[in-house]
Amino acid sequence: MSLSDHPKAYGTAAITVAFVAGVVFTLGLKDLYPDLERRFQQRRGARGVQRRSTATTIDPARRRSSLFWGPVELQDHDSSRDVAVPAGAMIPRDEGISDGIEGCIGRTPLIRIHSLSEATGRTILAKAEFLNGAGNSPKDRVALSMIETAEEQGLLRPGRGDTIYEGTVGSTGISIAALARARGYRAHICMPDDQSLEKSDLLHHLGATVERVPVQPIASPDHFVNLARRRAAEHTSRATPSNPSVGFFADQFESPANYAAHQRTTGPEIYHQTRGDLAAFVAGAGTGGTLSGVARYLKHDAALPHVRIVLADPPGSGLYNKIRHGVMYASTEKEGTRRRQQVDTIVEGVGINRVTANLEAGRDLIDTAVRVSDAQACAMARWLVEHDGIFCGSSSAVNCVAAVVAALSLPRGSQVVTVLCDSGNRHLSKFWKKVAEMGLEKEKEEGEEGGGGDKEDLFTLLGIERPR
Ligand SMILES: Cc1ncc(COP(=O)(O)O)c(C=O)c1O
Repeated sequence: MSLSDHPKAYGTAAITVAFVAGVVFTLGLKDLYPDLERRFQQRRGARGVQRRSTATTIDPARRRSSLFWGPVELQDHDSSRDVAVPAGAMIPRDEGISDGIEGCIGRTPLIRIHSLSEATGRTILAKAEFLNGAGNSPKDRVALSMIETAEEQGLLRPGRGDTIYEGTVGSTGISIAALARARGYRAHICMPDDQSLEKSDLLHHLGATVERVPVQPIASPDHFVNLARRRAAEHTSRATPSNPSVGFFADQFESPANYAAHQRTTGPEIYHQTRGDLAAFVAGAGTGGTLSGVARYLKHDAALPHVRIVLADPPGSGLYNKIRHGVMYASTEKEGTRRRQQVDTIVEGVGINRVTANLEAGRDLIDTAVRVSDAQACAMARWLVEHDGIFCGSSSAVNCVAAVVAALSLPRGSQVVTVLCDSGNRHLSKFWKKVAEMGLEKEKEEGEEGGGGDKEDLFTLLGIERPR
């Protein structure tokens, strides 16, 4: 009997074909599924808490249909695990699209500095704050926090012609200038004239009014901070019904919105990125906001009281003695001995000779201080370029020297976190000129110590005791 003659045989054949097609389709979909899930998880992960590190990657070879290239490999798609991201892929900060320039602030990477970790036997991690996307320093977080707080308090109103005034050595001004434009304000920056020209040039290009003023003691009405406060008051006093714009003095040294930004964002990010596994946090203090805010988060909010908070201090700053001995004093302040102004160092952005409200907010949480010389900072900056391809500014170099010193006082294997504040680009005319003048950029010849693959000794370079 032929098949066509038998209606039952038709039915059986149709069911068989449907069954086989079903099996083929299911196996094909099962093989595709990990890829679909990976993409879904990536989007979800970008929205939520950062989960960057040890992601499971999907071998493209395994994506092809198992039906023809071997058995299906079972994969673990437990959503509590890290998001599956191909190695080296950048995770977007927020769903791939940032909400204005403000959306590019925070959630910076934590970089393992290989050369310093290998030399010390401790893991040295650096928060890449130069990757903040408005003004390229940690001051982006602070500027945004101060502006938002002022807006909430009704002190600033977009589009009214309001101007933000600030006294700054540069970084905060740059962040304020960028954000001011983004939010409908103008910026007026007062800064000491001993700071690198790159910073005031940049401020001009960002549309800010810049006053570079001679260095004065803080008691002087013409100190750059006092001048900014006065300029803001003068602006407000000129307000008329037809031009009701006001001047707002941001006041990064005394404003609680400064350390609060680090307590709210930088500290939690470090906690998540290290999963709470860190033995020390090391940073310099310009206003003290970073050190206090991160210390408050780690020691209080995250309940990690054992984390050592270490101040990195350049020459001429009184903070080292304040933390170590309870007295604010720098020998370079001695009558007749002062060579340069501000704090007596080539380093910009850190070191201060008064206790600001922002330092005070976390002062009792600071465990110790490390003094870093200009020569050490220059040597470290060059070392980081040569060994890790990191081109940083002077305060970042100070932080890394202090991180090495702090790490050596901790057991092997400890994790130490510090901050890369800004890029070397902002320090070409002063700090990096000095690095070149010191002969640190001379290429080593083959066979010379430190040349031809012979690893230069970090400890000799920095003049610090070799770890045992
Ligand atoms: C480049 C740079 N690094 C570090 C700091 C110090 O940060 P903080 O003011 O939070 O102590 C500053 C402060 O202005 C800075 O400009």
